[in-house]
Amino acid sequence: MIRAERDERGERYTGLVQWWATERRDLPWRFTRDPWLVLVSEVMLQQTQVDRVRPYFELFAERWPTPGHLAQAELSDVLAAWQGLGYPRRARNLWHAAKVISSDHGGELPVDLDSLLRLPGVGPYTARAVQAFAFGIDAGVVDTNVGRILARWTGRRLGGAEAQQLADNLVPAGESWVWNQAMMDLGARICTKREPRCRGCPVEQWCAWARSDAPDPADRSAGVSARQAPFEGSDRQARGRLLAALSGGAIERSQAGEAMRLGRDEARAYRLIDGLIAEGLVTADGDQLRLG
Ligand code: ADE
Repeated sequence: MIRAERDERGERYTGLVQWWATERRDLPWRFTRDPWLVLVSEVMLQQTQVDRVRPYFELFAERWPTPGHLAQAELSDVLAAWQGLGYPRRARNLWHAAKVISSDHGGELPVDLDSLLRLPGVGPYTARAVQAFAFGIDAGVVDTNVGRILARWTGRRLGGAEAQQLADNLVPAGESWVWNQAMMDLGARICTKREPRCRGCPVEQWCAWARSDAPDPADRSAGVSARQAPFEGSDRQARGRLLAALSGGAIERSQAGEAMRLGRDEARAYRLIDGLIAEGLVTADGDQLRLG
């Protein structure tokens, strides 16, 4: 590395980390490096905001503190505890991952990327988050927020592979944990989707977009996901209602439409039930539906 580049890296790191020292959010998963708890938190954070995740993370950490604990749990208990967090397929995948970790990895999370990626529900984002936050490996963690920062930083729309490579290159050697956590808070606090606060940004001087009048390059860039469809009236809402009802015990198939508040739309109710069964979130025992 040439000297100027090394100096710039050092300054960027110092700027970001000094800012973070006063602005960091003290989130419960930042007090642990336990690989399993890092995985649990990152799976929860995949599609859910920090404040909603907090109490669920604390409950899971206490109730199922190791993969072995979760592997031995009943799926119905896991789904019931997940109730209200949304996207319940994540709970099933986590439970499944706990079984694979117990059977294939001696109860310890694997360190290498390929083994992590083979775990159910673990994609490129979550695998690297575990590598960086649990094992301190110099991997860039690219979620929606970080993808947005990188696009603005370079002033270009970025493809997925390019964003990942850039993120990996930016990590200062041996400082992966701090760097990636700080990037996440930069995305949440400063480099926000709308109305970013560039004037208070600790890395503004390296940001191409801050110095240009160009349209936001983060729009439709890698890692910047499409807007979520409205929840009200959605299949997701109806499925959530049925899972909530089933958390209280089995119900008859003929009552499911009512639990989902679908009025007389039986065809839709049956389609949703079939989907939940196919995904392994609900089992049918004759006319009885139950969780898991
Ligand atoms: N979103 C995903 N992972 C996160 C983390 N470790 N801290 C804050 N927000 C996050």
